Amino acid sequence: MNISTAAELRALFLKFMQEKGHALIPSASVIPENDPTVLFTTAGMHPLVPYLMGAKHPMGTRLTDVQKCVRTGDIDDVGDASHCTFFEMLGNWSLGDYFKKEAISWSWEFLTSKDWLGLDPDKLAFTVFAGDENCPRDEESYELWRSMGVKEDHIFFLPKENNWWGPAGVTGPCGPDTEMFIIRDVPDCGPDCSPACDCGKYLEIWNDVFMQYNKQADGSFLPLAQKNVDTGMGLERTISVLTGKKTVYETDLFTDIIAKISELSGHQYGESEEVTRSIRIIADHLRTATMILGDDKGVSPSNVDQGYVLRRLIRRAVRHGMKLGMPEHATCEIAKVVIKQYEDVYPELKRNSAFILEQLALEEDRFQKTLKQGLKEFEKAVGKLGDAKVIDGITAFHLYDTFGFPIEITKEMASERGLTVDEKAFEEAFKKHQATSHAGAEQRFKGGLADNTEATARLHTATHLLHAALRKVIGPDVAQKGSNITAERLRFDFSCPRKLTKDELKEVERLVNEAIE
Ligand code: ALA
Repeated sequence: MNISTAAELRALFLKFMQEKGHALIPSASVIPENDPTVLFTTAGMHPLVPYLMGAKHPMGTRLTDVQKCVRTGDIDDVGDASHCTFFEMLGNWSLGDYFKKEAISWSWEFLTSKDWLGLDPDKLAFTVFAGDENCPRDEESYELWRSMGVKEDHIFFLPKENNWWGPAGVTGPCGPDTEMFIIRDVPDCGPDCSPACDCGKYLEIWNDVFMQYNKQADGSFLPLAQKNVDTGMGLERTISVLTGKKTVYETDLFTDIIAKISELSGHQYGESEEVTRSIRIIADHLRTATMILGDDKGVSPSNVDQGYVLRRLIRRAVRHGMKLGMPEHATCEIAKVVIKQYEDVYPELKRNSAFILEQLALEEDRFQKTLKQGLKEFEKAVGKLGDAKVIDGITAFHLYDTFGFPIEITKEMASERGLTVDEKAFEEAFKKHQATSHAGAEQRFKGGLADNTEATARLHTATHLLHAALRKVIGPDVAQKGSNITAERLRFDFSCPRKLTKDELKEVERLVNEAIE
């Protein structure tokens, strides 16, 4: 089959798996449900953990999907040819249903059959688990690949480091895996070259995990109640290989996004190394930010957890946008392209498009307000350095605290000048500041948190009235984010992307008083 777009690959994979009896399920949220071990969904198996552990899935024991994934571990490498913070994972699952034999023969069929991807078997390599004290050498998978016709020297036995998929946290379902690679048309790096090295000869495109253990907190591995298969094929990578593109940024997934960036900035991809890098960062970061904002979970930029990652993504994109001379609210124009491109696959993007655009504009405005002045401060600090090569921690903290520069942005600006940042001193300044504001808060709330006087009981009731009034006036999305009550007054924190107008405040006050009356 001749595949030329990512949409065709998605459709073909899902069709193949459905023909093999898998039920199609929608992508889960990129913000994990009840999983404190990860900030984002990093693989298709995350949302399925309860079912891998034995819970019954309503759609049966064979599932297939395309899952939105966010991995930000390598965020600082984005800008090179291969790193992305968002990707889509094509997956098929056996929940205690089939095991190695079916998984491997279907992987082989999908990769090599002329009806499907039709890849040349000579251009494929495979790895299997070499075995250790916890789990035997995977001779079965080796034999299965051999029975498909794979040559001996195209199969590699590798240790746990390479051929094991484990939980992101310390405990959970895991097992040995067998991985599939494209052998690229480049020279190998020597006689020991194998899929374990990253010289570029072998490109992993698919992974079949045989989940049969449950890792315990003490490091031991107990058999799971059922044997599962968890697979993942990277959509971006695979389509780049199938269409002969050197990088994922040259695939059709980025064509429209990069065209919009060019239109807005007047710069072309490939114009210079620096421009290409900035374009990739803007394209990648805003694609990911749009996916995070477009999730039904409604995460918005903040200084903690997912909100902070989101803030970093948007602000780094804005800074590179500024380098390219992009106009105000370019982030929104680019997000519109992302939404349009993906809304058929992920309908939540359309549902949440107003929220996405509003949040991007707000975050851009917040950063733009201080960006120019912060850049001046940075230049001033660099000017004072003389021969020194390190930006001090106090300056980095000042840029963070007063000008909203995530430390990673300051580090990146420093490295563009061949400088580094004293991160230890930054951390110290950061901690000291947190301690001060904590003490400040205690001072302010000296009345203590809810004591049992009648006054606080009344104020507590009043927070409920206030919340109800806010929902009436602003809308049902207003959610309580915190409250603090002393004998003298109440404080109520709530989510709302903008400042309330005078009239709205008056109306809230009127509603609360009316209820009290
Ligand atoms: N969970 C496996 C992976 O992400 C399929 O590679």
